[in-house]
Amino acid sequence: MSRTVACSFCPAALYAVLLNVPLTHAADSPPPAPDEVVSAIESVFGATRGERRNHIKGFCATGEFVGTREARALSRSALFSGKSVPVVARFSLAGGNPNAPDTAKSARGMALQFALPHGRVHNITMLNTPMFGAAVPQTFLDLMRAQQPDPATGKPDPEKIKAFKASHPDNRAQAEYLASHNPPASYANSAFWGIHTFKFVDAHKKTSPVRWQFVPLDGEKRLSDDELKTAGAAFLEPVLRERLTQGPVRWEMWVSVGQPGDTETDPTVLWPEDRRRFKAGTLSITAAQAQTAGTCADLNFDPMVMADGILPSDDPVLRFRSPAYAVSFGKRMSEK
Ligand code: HEM
Repeated sequence: MSRTVACSFCPAALYAVLLNVPLTHAADSPPPAPDEVVSAIESVFGATRGERRNHIKGFCATGEFVGTREARALSRSALFSGKSVPVVARFSLAGGNPNAPDTAKSARGMALQFALPHGRVHNITMLNTPMFGAAVPQTFLDLMRAQQPDPATGKPDPEKIKAFKASHPDNRAQAEYLASHNPPASYANSAFWGIHTFKFVDAHKKTSPVRWQFVPLDGEKRLSDDELKTAGAAFLEPVLRERLTQGPVRWEMWVSVGQPGDTETDPTVLWPEDRRRFKAGTLSITAAQAQTAGTCADLNFDPMVMADGILPSDDPVLRFRSPAYAVSFGKRMSEK
């Protein structure tokens, strides 16, 4: 059963109206309030005035994207016109700790804002895990609640974490992926996944369910167990800057097309590997800037901001991200 989200004035609802798509929620119970979830993130990590409540540690980059003819056949988005599209990017570590070590076994993020003709923008905001750790926003909130520091120890209560894991099997796949894969040696050596299902819309309004991955042309490389001990807390930004002195860092965008029966609403479940896959474009990052100096600092990489030719699915996590990011964005902008 689907249900209309209660927040009729939130950005997700606004985008749904603008994009002419139904705003529904696949979960059985209504989602938590976005500000409740952002407050829960703050009680785990603290709140740094003027900064993102999640993915706080990061830096900016710029470059371009060029789409392919194959993508153009399935989506009329200007992203795939074949012309160079300017990109503002941000690379980040998940969580709200500004001093999190780059060796942490947490997710890494790549956020992209494409500047399309006529002042339109399109956002793609990804992680370096193929799946997410919550099928519905409630799981994300429950994880934050389970991770609250115990006032007696200053650390999360292991019993609460255990209880969360036992009661939220939808968190398991991503948690196991993060535990069993060391973090990347460089952002240039990391793949990133869109995770959610989106819909490509072609010139005849035919839609196709799609998921995508950005594959690094420098190849995937993770820190070894020894490097984990010696890499230091802040190597990711200098390593990418150093790599950029040799030329652009590139990722290919690979799109998989779903078949009937493939979930479009559960970001914790992967599609079968044999789905048709094609190269949709190439992202070239040409320069990096410190977060304080770059153009990405004051951007909201809301993944529901999409230009004509790509639509959101009814994935409740994708829909929830928009109002949650708006809360964090509103806080950090009003604190500056
Ligand atoms: C319930 C689910 C989620 C919640 C509540 C959530 C919450 C947030 C918040 C509050 C921010 C900071 C926004 C800002 O101040 O601009 C953020 C940033 C980010 N999130 Fe999420 N998120 C969720 C799911 C996801 C998923 C599924 C992905 C990837 C597919 C993702 C990738 C990112 C990235 C890469 C950033 C950093 C964006 C930037 O550089 O500005 N998040 N998230």
